[in-house]
Amino acid sequence: MTMDFTRPDAAVLDELKSVLGPGGWKESADGARYFEDPRGRFEGKACLILLPESTRQVSEIVKICNAARVGIIPFSGGTGVVAGQLSPDNENAIILSLERMNKVRDVLIEDSAIVVEAGCILETIHAVAAEHDLTFPLSMASKGSCCIGGNMATNAGGIQVIRHGNARDLCLGIEAVLPDGSIHSELSPLWKNNTGYDLRHLLIGSEGTLGIITAATLILKPVDPETSTAFCGLPSPGAALAFYRALRKALGESISALELMSGFGVDLVVSHFPDLANPLEHSHDWYLLVEAGGSVGIHAALEAALNDCFEAGLLSDAVIAQSESQRQSLWDLREYTPDANRAGGAFCNSDTSVPISKIDMFICETVKRIAEIEPRLRINSYGHIGDGNIHHNVLPPEGMSKADLVKTHPGIIDEVRAAINVATRMFDGSISAEHGIGRLKTADLETFAPAEKLRTLRRIKHALDPNNIMNPGALVESRG
Ligand code: LAC
Ligand code: ZN
Repeated sequence: MTMDFTRPDAAVLDELKSVLGPGGWKESADGARYFEDPRGRFEGKACLILLPESTRQVSEIVKICNAARVGIIPFSGGTGVVAGQLSPDNENAIILSLERMNKVRDVLIEDSAIVVEAGCILETIHAVAAEHDLTFPLSMASKGSCCIGGNMATNAGGIQVIRHGNARDLCLGIEAVLPDGSIHSELSPLWKNNTGYDLRHLLIGSEGTLGIITAATLILKPVDPETSTAFCGLPSPGAALAFYRALRKALGESISALELMSGFGVDLVVSHFPDLANPLEHSHDWYLLVEAGGSVGIHAALEAALNDCFEAGLLSDAVIAQSESQRQSLWDLREYTPDANRAGGAFCNSDTSVPISKIDMFICETVKRIAEIEPRLRINSYGHIGDGNIHHNVLPPEGMSKADLVKTHPGIIDEVRAAINVATRMFDGSISAEHGIGRLKTADLETFAPAEKLRTLRRIKHALDPNNIMNPGALVESRG
């Protein structure tokens, strides 16, 4: 997508700086961290970095930018993997980082809700909830650095979606600055509010293209009196799903996480992080991390269900954590997977969802198509199988670097991405399950989204942001 902004003139930049005062902005030369891509594929650019402290300041900045046609890239924790927070092709936009807006505004015990500013780190929200014997169930490997503003802007998913839903399902209210600088504020912890279009849900998942989320009211839930975690060996993703169906019969809605890992993936984690170990005696083609939470007795119930599944031939092997440290070791195998992929030179990291019933076929189809491109490629397929969300990470052949692979087979990255996208379409899936479109997938969206949907997205964008100043180049551009 080409953006035609010119560099803002010095008077506009000075006006922006004067809204924030000393300490409220950085020159781009001092802002390396805002230009880093967690996967190392892009390098962002900007002409100025602004660090507002209040919603009022954000509003002032947006008004100035809208009048002067300056593009704004909202920046949260910087952990996004589709370049939604990075503008590699345009150095004329400004970055607006919410990091100084990191207050917990209110903990509403009787409403089981918390009001937080966009720059609150997800793990901080977990800690504040825990102080009140409550929990905020949104969680993912980047929880120590991602921020709630970005979680909401991308409708983040993560590891507890099967039980608690996506970011959208855990949010009661949103405060945001819209592209004309006006402040939309509906932070009251209401469970029901049918007063017209739901702007909260329009802004959640809009990736900063319709406004800047400055605060959110989140749902807090009771802490489970007991949690139980198991690591299981299985022959195939299909077997993992048959096992899951049996577990659901036994344990109902208490299963909170169901993470699939490939044998290759677990070996990769263990080889890059030697402190970690596969807890099962024998190797398996696939592994499943299962966590259930509920009232006292859930641990015994999971143990009994695992035994029944083993006897019914639905499970090859399993261990069940007997302590918090054993539980953490099992989760480490899962949470270090993205780092292991990176260390192993992964050049493609997909984020696909398909209907759960089609996951097994989808994985077989993608593996077949990727092998047809280059049979020596190594594929680490893993993800949130309970919600149909698989990440295929594709690594160069053993002993070959990514650079050498691309030299011998130019275009291979695009071929692999296309193969996964075509298989996604075959099985009625989505090319972005939980990471968003950002700048990485705008062309894929054009190709794979229905034309009517694209037209409607653009009309919404145009209605709210006719000057296309909000995260220009990401998701969709404004067209009347
Ligand atoms: C994960 C991220 C990449 O599930 O979504 O590890
Ligand atoms: Zn994921």
